Amino acid sequence: MKKLAVIGNPIAHSLSPEMHRAAIRALSIDADYTRQKMSVEHFETEIPLFMEKMDGFNVTVPFKERIIPFLDGLDEFAENCGAVNTVVRENSKWIGYNTDGLGYLLGLAEIHPLHPNDTVLIIGAGGASKGIYFAIKEKIGCHVAVTNRTVMKAKEMISDYPEDAVLTISEAEKQLGTFSVVIQTTSVGLMKTANEMPLALDNLRQGTVVSDIIYNPKQTRFLKEASKKQAIIQNGLPMFIHQGALAFEKWTGQKPDTEIMKQAVLASL
Ligand code: ATR
Repeated sequence: MKKLAVIGNPIAHSLSPEMHRAAIRALSIDADYTRQKMSVEHFETEIPLFMEKMDGFNVTVPFKERIIPFLDGLDEFAENCGAVNTVVRENSKWIGYNTDGLGYLLGLAEIHPLHPNDTVLIIGAGGASKGIYFAIKEKIGCHVAVTNRTVMKAKEMISDYPEDAVLTISEAEKQLGTFSVVIQTTSVGLMKTANEMPLALDNLRQGTVVSDIIYNPKQTRFLKEASKKQAIIQNGLPMFIHQGALAFEKWTGQKPDTEIMKQAVLASL
C-alpha cells in the first residue's frame, strides 16, 4: 500500500486527508493518506524517521522551506521557488515539487484568469507565497508588489525581478486602491488568529479581486471585510483542490476527479 500524508503545524484544520482519500477511493488505488503534526522545535530530528515510512507527502505551514535539506533533488520550479509542498519517492530518491503556484493560478482562473496587465499585491513571503509569486512571474509576467510583516523576506523573494516592489504593511494599506488583484498568503486567519487581519482594507477599491489562500474557515475575517467593500472574493478552496490534484498525479500517475475531491472537502468543512 502506498503511504501518503500531509505534514504541518498546526495540521488539525487540514482537509488534505479527506480530499485525497476520496480521490483514492474513486480510482480504487491501494493507498492511504493521513495527517501528521510535526514539532516546530524538533522538525529536523523527526522528519527523517517519518520519511522512512512514507512513499510521498504534502508539506504545509511552516515547513515548506525547512523540508528542502532532507530531499535528494528538486524540480526546476520548486528550485526557483525555494519552497516545496509535494514530496515524491522516485526510485528511492526523494524529489520535491511545488504545486501551490500552478494550483493557485488554475483556481484563480475560475473567477479571474490573471492577465499580464493585472497589478498584483501579494501579502506574505512564506513558502506558499513563493510558489504563487514565481508562478505569476513565470506564467503570466504581471507586475507584483509584495508586503510582509518581515520586509527582508519579501525583498529576498523578489530579488530575481527588479521591476517588482516591496511595500511595508502601512505602505500597502495606503496603496491598496492601485491593485487589481490582492492575494492573502499568510497564516493570519487560521485557528488562533481567526479574528486578525494581515492588513487593513479601508482603501480597497470596489471590484478588486481579493483572494485568501485559507479555505478553513471558509471565509476569513479578511475576506468578509473585502466582501463588505464589494470586492470579488475567492477563498483557498480552488487552489487547495488544484494543488492537491497536481500532487496526486505525481504520486499515482493518475489524474484524479477534482469534482469528487471538492465535494469531499465541502462535506468536511
Ligand atoms: P507557509 O509555508 O504556509 O507560507 P510560512 O513559510 O511560515 O508558512 O509563512 C507564513 C507567512 O505568514 C509569512 O509571510 C509570515 O510573515 P513573516 O515572514 O513576517 O513571519 C506570515 N505570518 C504568520 N503569522 C503572522 C502574523 N501573526 N502576522 C503577520 N504575518 C504573519
